[in-house]
Amino acid sequence: MGNNIQIAIDGPAAAGKSTIAKLVAEELGYTYIDTGAMYRAITYKVLERHIDLENEEALTNLLLETTIELKPSNDGQMVFLDGQDVSDAIRSNAITSYVSIVASKASLRKEMVNRQIKMAKRSGVVMDGRDIGTHVLVEAELKIFMSASVDERAKRRQLDNERRGIDSLLSQLKKEIVLRDKMDSERVASPLVQAKDAIYLDTTNLTILEAAKYIIQLAKERMS
Ligand code: DC
Repeated sequence: MGNNIQIAIDGPAAAGKSTIAKLVAEELGYTYIDTGAMYRAITYKVLERHIDLENEEALTNLLLETTIELKPSNDGQMVFLDGQDVSDAIRSNAITSYVSIVASKASLRKEMVNRQIKMAKRSGVVMDGRDIGTHVLVEAELKIFMSASVDERAKRRQLDNERRGIDSLLSQLKKEIVLRDKMDSERVASPLVQAKDAIYLDTTNLTILEAAKYIIQLAKERMS
């Protein structure tokens, strides 16, 4: 085994996956792939085109004629939809509320998974999402299932929003998180479940740095 391993990080909304995954990737010199951003990007185009969210065939056909690129930058990962920078636009409340519906469609997921498998072939990779350990990088040397209490996740989301100048009510954020967890876990097509060989990591009482350090340590053990 060389120094380039695959690290799969799954877990529910706002558990700290992307922040922690980014740090781990930076430290190891790996590529970071935020698969949630890919589902968000296609949802952006679906809403722009006013496509029926329940028309699975139309959603999948739209994805087949769409390019989604993830590019690292100093401000974090940038997302390009058919060449257009949608990095900020895909974080809107509208996208957050509709993305779980788009992501529940099996044939659309199949195409996304194919693309993600190809993206991961290039080098050492840290990929985060909901089905990475179970459907995308099934052979990953390190799989983490990351969670945190709903209260803690809502607080983190509120802080994130504050930083972006968005006011939000904690009670409303909690409701949204519980609903998204439910939709992501109960859908028929690759629901959010912990892979059998994944390590469970509860980040409720950990700082971002502590969680990242723990994963880096595990990764280094897997490399040697
Ligand atoms: O991680 P996120 O909040 O940006 O993800 C947005 C949505 O995309 C989330 O509600 C579930 C879905 N998703 C998915 O179904 N599979 C993935 N691998 C990543 C995200």
